[in-house]
Amino acid sequence: MLGLAALAAAGVTLLGSLVAPSSAAAAPALPSFASIETLFSFGDSYSTVGYKPQDGLLPLPGVGGTTSGGYNWVQFLAFMQNASYFDFAQSAATVNNSIIHINRGETPPSFDIQLATFEEYFAGAEPEIPWTSDKSLFTVFFGINDIGFTVLQDSHNASEIVPKIVQSYEASVSQLYDRGARKFLLILMPPTYRTPYIKSFGAETVAKFNTTIDLYVSTLTTAVADLSTRYPDASFVTYDTAPMFNAILDDAAAYGFSISSTSCWAYWNKHDPELDLPSCEAPLAEYAWADDYHPTWGVHKLVAEDIAKTLTGSVPSIVAAPPDGRTISRRAAQPARKAIRRRRPGHGSARGSGASAHDEAAHALMRERMRRSWAGLAMAGED
Ligand SMILES: *[C@@H]1O[C@H](CO)[C@@H](O)[C@H](O)[C@H]1NC(C)=O
Ligand SMILES: *[C@@H]1O[C@H](CO)[C@@H](O)[C@H](O)[C@H]1NC(C)=O
Ligand SMILES: *[C@@H]1O[C@H](CO)[C@@H](O)[C@H](O)[C@H]1NC(C)=O
Ligand SMILES: *[C@@H]1O[C@H](CO)[C@@H](O)[C@H](O)[C@H]1NC(C)=O
Repeated sequence: MLGLAALAAAGVTLLGSLVAPSSAAAAPALPSFASIETLFSFGDSYSTVGYKPQDGLLPLPGVGGTTSGGYNWVQFLAFMQNASYFDFAQSAATVNNSIIHINRGETPPSFDIQLATFEEYFAGAEPEIPWTSDKSLFTVFFGINDIGFTVLQDSHNASEIVPKIVQSYEASVSQLYDRGARKFLLILMPPTYRTPYIKSFGAETVAKFNTTIDLYVSTLTTAVADLSTRYPDASFVTYDTAPMFNAILDDAAAYGFSISSTSCWAYWNKHDPELDLPSCEAPLAEYAWADDYHPTWGVHKLVAEDIAKTLTGSVPSIVAAPPDGRTISRRAAQPARKAIRRRRPGHGSARGSGASAHDEAAHALMRERMRRSWAGLAMAGED
């Protein structure tokens, strides 16, 4: 069973004791977070598990729908909390498609549309899967594509568009409140300008990302304060992913990664946490980036542990997950930390010597595909 094997692998490779950054001091602990039984998640490719309730109400088992090569932070958090998770996040999603125009064939469902799906399946008169306000956590993680499109598409003016994005975000959170949501975990943006993809655009774009993210985060933080005032019977906790991402990228080895500035094209869009391909310099688990824009499952796990620490003050053990997404009441013993394997000369390092021109070409193709998808351009032979 891939799911259980993957979890075992997750426990083996990275230990919770390594988790250092946490915004715990800044955020109040969420009241009775320990009693959370259900997670409802909204977001983009950093959060998606490929779940679509229209295809079946129960979440798909395993890691097939994530962008991390393994589980993602939503799943790890659910496993740690022994909670069911219903994750409406979809790749490339923004807060509001009417604000950020994405010029490509299929427009991904933005926050308001994900919310409508939640309402349709979980907020009717008699939802098939019951949930209660006090035992449900609503997580919202947007901004990566909003800021990405704002910066990379010329037509967007950040100082005009960011307040609109945040206003729409606030409206959707208010609507969740109207539907009974009372416990909110609002995730702030990671430094996406440190991804191999954004770095490939050069220093000017990196700097623009940096300042635009700052603007988005500060505007959103003000909005969250406003929501807290408006809804005193609800809990709003923000978790800033930047400290953890920065800590990992500043000192990857301390967190169990041997490669943190590049990705290996051969691991792109793969769903096997233990994948170890000879054309890459190291196993997937030793990379911080699963592709040029998305972190690996190991990074997700560290973020999830840090979130749990922020919310509850401690990092619960991961328990196993059967196919229905609910976790088994079994606390896994933490196995000894796996030794980091060194880069293997016979493998990916040959790449730079010109021995694998094919690999370079494939990586260039992946990067060009991403670049064109951001710019709203189709590639020949692609829909
Ligand atoms: C962006 O919008 C702001 C506020 O409306 C305006 O002052 C600024 O000139 C605009 N920038 C550009 C490059 O159009
Ligand atoms: C999305 O943006 C459009 C255009 O600005 C706006 O009319 C609409 O109310 C927004 N949706 C939400 C949920 O705020
Ligand atoms: C991003 O901005 C922060 C200040 O907000 C600065 O400390 C940091 O060096 C910047 N990073 C890059 C890569 O520009
Ligand atoms: C996990 O959740 C299931 C279903 O709600 C419950 O039966 C079980 O006792 C829980 N396990 C733990 C360790 O809380």
